Amino acid sequence: MDLAIDPAKIIYLDNAATTFPKPREILDAMLDAYASYGVNPGRSGYDLCLMAGDLVSETRRELARFFGGTDPDHLVFAANATDALNTAIQGLVGDGDHVVSTTIEHNSVIRPLNHLRRDHGVQVDYVPVASDGRVDPAAITRQFRPNTKLVVVNHGSNVIGTIQPVAEIGRACRERGIPFLIDASQTAGVVPIDAEAMCVDVVAFTGHKSLLGPTGIGGLYVRPGVAVRPTRFGGTGVNSVYPLHLEEYPYRLEAGTANVMGIAGLHFGQRYIARRGMANIYRHEMELFARLQDGLTAIEGVTLHGTTSLEHRLPVLSFTLAGRDPADVGTLLDVDHNIAARTGLQCAPLIHKQMGTGERGTVRLSVGPMNTADHIEVAIAAVAEIATAARAAASR
Ligand SMILES: Cc1ncc(COP(=O)(O)O)c(C=O)c1O
Repeated sequence: MDLAIDPAKIIYLDNAATTFPKPREILDAMLDAYASYGVNPGRSGYDLCLMAGDLVSETRRELARFFGGTDPDHLVFAANATDALNTAIQGLVGDGDHVVSTTIEHNSVIRPLNHLRRDHGVQVDYVPVASDGRVDPAAITRQFRPNTKLVVVNHGSNVIGTIQPVAEIGRACRERGIPFLIDASQTAGVVPIDAEAMCVDVVAFTGHKSLLGPTGIGGLYVRPGVAVRPTRFGGTGVNSVYPLHLEEYPYRLEAGTANVMGIAGLHFGQRYIARRGMANIYRHEMELFARLQDGLTAIEGVTLHGTTSLEHRLPVLSFTLAGRDPADVGTLLDVDHNIAARTGLQCAPLIHKQMGTGERGTVRLSVGPMNTADHIEVAIAAVAEIATAARAAASR
């Protein structure tokens, strides 16, 4: 493909979709690893195969530790968060069970649950978040029934950036022995997650957002003792004579050849995050975000949706502009200002319905580790210009 666009000229504020650009050192290290030992890991005893296998095991260890897990074998890789969430949800819920979730979930939770509802008589309660975008843990526990088999909650919102009180929800679930799954797609890599301390049974993550890996990799950390039923079966490279899929983790939830390139990305992403410091990355993003939010708040005609609190928050905001369709604002940001934003419902229809933006959605801006203060000033000026033009058009 001929690259007519210079990525360096783009002001990329769609980091909630995927972080971009990825740090060059991660990409270079991935390529080196794949060029040196990009073979099928865990299948044979030759050196290259052992090296690829070591990369996979080492990354399991790093990520299990990163999520506060106790057993690296319980870190399983998947294609992305959607794949991981499907594995967890379908592996924990059966016919006639009851599930509690929230209105701030992504479709990668809502749709698997709705399919279980339609096809397996599963009952689902979506607890609304409060006006500050956070769910009251007591509102979750009020929904518990004798047949509640899963609580699944979004850790950080991809629409309004709110971080949910997962430790409190986790404690309530643990008291009742109900498995607790968090969707850490937006938080993994930028907000600390300690599955043990937070009483989280299953963490679902994606690799291509704040963990800084490529697209096509994600996974689950499953607390030892939690039996997620496998829903896919196939080759594992071990015990090939056994006619069924292996019961033990990590094979239990992994079938087929691992995504070595993706796992290398997670491995070198971990190094990058450790070197720069996760708290420093978060601080950098939130400082830029605070300025962005203030700048947009001051523009006549802009409405920010959700909360403006910076507490319990990711650097993600949603706004609408009076007199302009969000999709048109996105197009103007792109075409006239080289700014990449996301518009519409961001795969999270229930929270938009609750906020009153269920028809046209919002414009979402999300800050990432590679953004600079200049990007933010350009974005504020661009929205101000679009708002001025919208007001002028309205007064004509
Ligand atoms: C909250 C949330 N959950 C799940 C996903 C799905 O992630 P993936 O595209 O990696 O499957 C996303 C991606 O945007 C997300 O923001």
